[in-house]
Amino acid sequence: MSDRVDLHSHYLPGIDDGVKTAEEGFALVRGMKKLGYGLCVATPHIRTAMFDNRRPGLEQAFAGFRDHAAGEPDLPTLGLGAEHFFDDVFWGLFQSGEHLPYDGAKAALVELPPERLPLRVEHVFFEMRVRGVRPILAHPERYRPFYDRSDALEPLLDAGAIPLLDLMSLVGRYGRKPERAAERLLSEGLYYAACSDAHRPEDVPLVEQAIARLRRLVGAEEAEAMLGEHPRRVLTGTPEFE
Ligand SMILES: [Fe+2]
Repeated sequence: MSDRVDLHSHYLPGIDDGVKTAEEGFALVRGMKKLGYGLCVATPHIRTAMFDNRRPGLEQAFAGFRDHAAGEPDLPTLGLGAEHFFDDVFWGLFQSGEHLPYDGAKAALVELPPERLPLRVEHVFFEMRVRGVRPILAHPERYRPFYDRSDALEPLLDAGAIPLLDLMSLVGRYGRKPERAAERLLSEGLYYAACSDAHRPEDVPLVEQAIARLRRLVGAEEAEAMLGEHPRRVLTGTPEFE
């Protein structure tokens, strides 16, 4: 069975802080396939002054990687999106069509600054939704405003954002506070789907441990929905999350 879908991964080589070589990229997605993933979407960073990637360069890098992967055995289906950092250029990119939504263009992955919520973030999310692109909120448990309380998340959810758990938060990858926040948000039913945010092949065993923990925390049925059906619904623009 390869029913799982990963909406957040850094397996495109040499383009951000993810894998460095194509071989590492193949090893990462091959490991995910062994965990039951049939589709892995690369989401390289678009972040000003850190990873100044733009859509054409990322599409070219993805096409090259996919061509190179054609002869490789045991790989999942590969897809492309981007992890857009919510900074001063983000909304301009979106308005000029230079953002990089998931295949199907129904949703786009957005990362927030970790220390404080940007002004008017909920307005931007609402505008995205009005334009037919659901904002997919990367790892809310890793942002300080949500460490101890969930109420600050509510305006973002009201604006249509869909929260995506970073699985490795559940096994302490980012420290105790994000782990506790992830447990709380899970218990409150505030995640719609879960993803790996894997940056190297060595992350795959941690993702495996995290999936086991997720199944213990929310039960196998809900866990598998978060790992398969729900991320697929994000791609088709039919999430059932209000
Ligand atoms: Fe990421």
